Amino acid sequence: MKDNIILIGFMGTGKTTISHELSKLTGYKEIDTDQYVEEKEGLSIPDLFSKHGEEYFRDLETKALTDLQNINHIIISCGGGIVLRDKNVELLKCKGQIVLLTALPETILERVKENQDRPILRNNMNLPFIEELMNKRKDKYLSVADIIIETDNKDITAIAKEILSKV
Ligand code: S3P
Repeated sequence: MKDNIILIGFMGTGKTTISHELSKLTGYKEIDTDQYVEEKEGLSIPDLFSKHGEEYFRDLETKALTDLQNINHIIISCGGGIVLRDKNVELLKCKGQIVLLTALPETILERVKENQDRPILRNNMNLPFIEELMNKRKDKYLSVADIIIETDNKDITAIAKEILSKV
């Protein structure tokens, strides 16, 4: 197993939940980039987006990954858009094994629909929008991933164990 496990994937693919499970199974500390950024800035993600805009938030994601470069034995659960910046991809690649979590758009919608904390989906909580955004990001996710894990209709512990058998 490599020193660090990095979870990437679209919103609602279960990164945070699976990160908790991986942390339990490995004893590794988990770091959620969204939570890291929120704590550093003292603002929630919706507030960061509305006060400063998406680019500012993306800068903070890059800053978070830079801060984490010297910390090891961790599970990093990344915000869904982290791969949009080449600099972030570079930082992730040298940090550890990158696990892409995937799910069908219908599954994603089901998982995210009650949550208003994602500015990108807030006014777009529908299947066509999710499908379109997933399609736009798909190649990027695939090009960055070392391992791909489907999460539809699977139990969290089974997913975590599947990841650990492959990293
Ligand atoms: C985003 C995903 C979110 C969060 C922000 C933007 C995105 O993280 O970083 O709302 O652009 O896909 P989750 O994937 O944990 O929901």
